[in-house]
Amino acid sequence: RGHVPDGQNPLPRRFSTRLLSWYRSHRRDLPWRRTREPYRIWVSEVMLQQTTVPEVIPYFERWLELFPDLPSLARAPLRSVLRAWQGLGYYQRARNLHRAAKLMMRRHGGHVPDDAGTLREMPGFGPYTTAAVLSLAYGRPLPVIDANVRRVLMRVLGIEGAAHPGLDTGLLPVLQKVIPRSAPGAFNQGLMELGALVCRSANPQCLLCPVREFCRAAEEGRQEIIPKPRRLEVTKVEAAVAVIRQGDRVLIRKRPE
Ligand code: ADE
Repeated sequence: RGHVPDGQNPLPRRFSTRLLSWYRSHRRDLPWRRTREPYRIWVSEVMLQQTTVPEVIPYFERWLELFPDLPSLARAPLRSVLRAWQGLGYYQRARNLHRAAKLMMRRHGGHVPDDAGTLREMPGFGPYTTAAVLSLAYGRPLPVIDANVRRVLMRVLGIEGAAHPGLDTGLLPVLQKVIPRSAPGAFNQGLMELGALVCRSANPQCLLCPVREFCRAAEEGRQEIIPKPRRLEVTKVEAAVAVIRQGDRVLIRKRPE
């Protein structure tokens, strides 16, 4: 319960072929799926970390008009970068993109590095972003686990309990064994897409699922209770906020760096 069972049977190879052929015919046409350009993949994956696909699309397109490539992002003043991010939240993500772009210009010849060790030293490159860029842009067979992927695998493997990132250490080796060397990016995005469109947290569409025959939760009718729904805890916070206006203009104090 709550973890990947020891000696977990590997997923059959047919799991990957089914997933891939489903993904190729059902995937949404999203702007970052029309490219394998590492800079664009990187920007999209950072935006998608805390923000939904429909919200990201206009930001992504505007970003590429303002900063079409790595050198233009590295050259831009931080305030333009933060302005382009305005509304996406978690601004540390934008600061890290900017800092990493400068480092890539200075130390890596203006390219997004293509090895995990170097990437992990860049600001903002945790395990998720590193594996996403390496698999989607460079075709490296590294599995990517986000909330959608975690939910899909918990159901397929029949892992009870609440979803939590601590599961990933057990899930990674399971994915490592089935990720196809020929199409790791499509495999990773296929799992994300399955989680977003079919294996949704509420009302999963098992009848439409390409991997239903491999799914423990569907077999046992437990897809609605895996993962265990979390009770949302609401914390009330009282705070005073001052807004200083002059006509239409609003003055806010910028947080120090
Ligand atoms: N969420 C994270 N990465 C994604 C991608 N490449 N496509 C759709 N949703 C995503």
